[in-house]
Amino acid sequence: MSTERLPWVSEDPASLRLFELAQKVAPTATTLLIVGESGTGKDHLARLVHEIGPRRDAPYLKIDCASLPPHLVESELFGHERGSFTGAVERKLGRLEMGGAGTIVLDEVAALSPEAQGKMLRVLQERSFERLGGTETLHITARIIALTNVDLPAAVKNGTFREDLYFRLNVLTLAVPALRERRADILPLAQHLLNIVRVVHGRGQAQLSEASRRMLLAYAWPGNIRELRNALERAIVFSRGSTMATEGVAAEGGENILEPRDFPENIRAAAGGAAHYGAELLSLEEIERNAIAATLDATRYQITRSSKILGISRKTLLEKRKKYGLK
Ligand SMILES: Nc1ncnc2c1ncn2[C@@H]1O[C@H](COP(=O)(O)OP(=O)(O)O)[C@@H](O)[C@H]1O
Ligand SMILES: [Mg+2]
Repeated sequence: MSTERLPWVSEDPASLRLFELAQKVAPTATTLLIVGESGTGKDHLARLVHEIGPRRDAPYLKIDCASLPPHLVESELFGHERGSFTGAVERKLGRLEMGGAGTIVLDEVAALSPEAQGKMLRVLQERSFERLGGTETLHITARIIALTNVDLPAAVKNGTFREDLYFRLNVLTLAVPALRERRADILPLAQHLLNIVRVVHGRGQAQLSEASRRMLLAYAWPGNIRELRNALERAIVFSRGSTMATEGVAAEGGENILEPRDFPENIRAAAGGAAHYGAELLSLEEIERNAIAATLDATRYQITRSSKILGISRKTLLEKRKKYGLK
């Protein structure tokens, strides 16, 4: 993955536009902010920007600001001098120092502690910092790319994110649309991911049936591309068991055809149930009903969240829920 060229699957006008933007910003040194729901491809896009730009041969270093305790995040970013805190037994270089002329990615940037936010502000303003416990001022040439699935303006409003840091990060923002907002990408991405996971599982011949394709197209994908990948992986695993156990290997082209029944229940249910996928196509109303049911199910019936995901108002969601007799 680290050396081969990164494929950016995009057929939808929305993702094609994003790819064009990525090509425009890749040669520049400008700080980037990449926003989008979880699983939409923020990491993937950051990596792409790195690899198609002049920094491709320099380091690409990512730090997940949400998964480490705050003092470790700082130590990972800025490095530390020996004895700067308990356990700092020797000098350690931080990512900013090791990044050289490469790219440094701050994943889940909204999770940075107030102290780290202050230090990052200075990095962005002056391109300089010190190691924890150090006095020597170091300078960075790496490009910074921050990723977030959090609404940063809202975080600024409620006081958890510094406004000045937000302005520094928000110079150039790339918004990665949710998968349901670029439906023309669903099948090309499914095929691309299937090509990967079927090899991983030693099932190089696995293919989607026509009914499965229709089902994937009808689903709302609240977990975006990551959910699509997981669903395909599950289908590959289950297709073997289900065909052999219930119908014999020869049935319907055998275990290499992935049918709707091989996919997770919530996807099948949301897309109308496996029964609909014989020859029958779905009406727009059915697709809408299924998308709403799946989203409600995935958010555990949180109305506000569901309405945001579906891109409709709370009021409309409640009306449609009633109309379709959903619980
Ligand atoms: N345009 C794309 N083409 C091919 N694969 C993609 C694309 N966008 C995302 N992916 C894949 O989808 C998965 C989720 O993407 P990721 O970048 O981890 O999402 P995020 O960081 O937004 O949660 C990864 O396996 C990634 O490689
Ligand atoms: Mg990510």
